[in-house]
Amino acid sequence: MVIEKLTLHNFRNYEDETFTFGEGLNVLTGRNAQGKTNCAEAVFYLCTGTSLRIRHDRQLIRLGAPCAHIAARARTRFGSVTLEASVFENKRELFVNGNKVTRAADFVGNMNSVFFSPGELRLIQDGPDERRRFLNLSISQTSREYCTALARYQRILDQRNNLLKERDASLILETLPVWDEQLAVYAARIVRHRRRYLSRLSPLAQEAHAFLTDGAEQLSLAMDGKYPDDEEEIMDKLVREFAASRERDMRLGFTSVGPHRDDIRISINGTDARGYSSQGQARTAALSLKLAETEIFRELSGEAPVLILDDVMSELDLPRRKKLLDRVKDIQCILTCTHAERFLSGTPCTKCRIREGKIVP
Ligand SMILES: Nc1ncnc2c1ncn2[C@@H]1O[C@H](COP(=O)(O)OP(=O)(O)OP(=O)(O)O)[C@@H](O)[C@H]1O
Ligand SMILES: [Mg+2]
Repeated sequence: MVIEKLTLHNFRNYEDETFTFGEGLNVLTGRNAQGKTNCAEAVFYLCTGTSLRIRHDRQLIRLGAPCAHIAARARTRFGSVTLEASVFENKRELFVNGNKVTRAADFVGNMNSVFFSPGELRLIQDGPDERRRFLNLSISQTSREYCTALARYQRILDQRNNLLKERDASLILETLPVWDEQLAVYAARIVRHRRRYLSRLSPLAQEAHAFLTDGAEQLSLAMDGKYPDDEEEIMDKLVREFAASRERDMRLGFTSVGPHRDDIRISINGTDARGYSSQGQARTAALSLKLAETEIFRELSGEAPVLILDDVMSELDLPRRKKLLDRVKDIQCILTCTHAERFLSGTPCTKCRIREGKIVP
């Protein structure tokens, strides 16, 4: 897959700008705070319908403007596809090939991208939220079924949580079993997808990590939740767990068990990466996860996603930069950095310099 064109209108610090990307490596340079990450973010938003930097879509709108509009044209193995998003103060509109779509599942996955930025360290060092978000985003991009199951699970979970805050205990106990049954259906589907995804991701991430560390470190990933193999059995188990945690949940006012609480255990050389890894190890592990994610996209959809490497070079030593570039040379890559450094010498690429939200001619 290749993104050929990206148009930004009142998006972040861009008023009106159009980027033309080449097939392989695209390098966006510019000083701090000029719009490099913003451009990368727009690509990611069109791929996933979300951004990792925002709490609310309205942050994407250029300050003082009524709405933001972003559009991209990509060449995929199914032909050309155009994606557009209009973001307003309190709503957004999404279009695929000019047709309005109302469900996120119809939008997500038309273009795929993998985003790596220094903030991805959180994936290794922070709590389970970050890792679940990673799983949810990457699986959603390749599976509509997962995307839909996740949305339904979240909706039922919200309803169950609202019910748990009711004062009338008998009403709660009467209604909960109905929610629990439904919640378990989608929960089991989510667990099945996550497990399959992780069993693919794990060896690929291990291989990438060994590559980046020259075999010095071994990375391993495992699902934290314990579930039976069969989806029906997972469902039964979850129904029992939801029932068993009812009283505690009523006390807490939220649902304390289920896949929304699961985690991935990441270890380096057998030690839990979260509590023990160094900055450099965590950075490399996060990068390995992303490179593995890129491979999975390639396997599942038959073509590589766009790899966005935001500000990653400044954190790697020269041999690793070279290795990374070598590894990604056959896919479209959008790389941002403050200046095109030595590591680029001799590497063919499309360069673009950005200043104050504009491409420098
Ligand atoms: N909604 C918005 N409206 C207007 N400007 C915005 C908006 N959101 C962010 N900006 C501005 O966009 C500018 C560029 O941000 P961006 O993150 O793209 O910088 P960058 O080029 O990646 O810089 P760095 O090298 O520091 O990472 C920042 O100065 C920021 O304040
Ligand atoms: Mg930046």
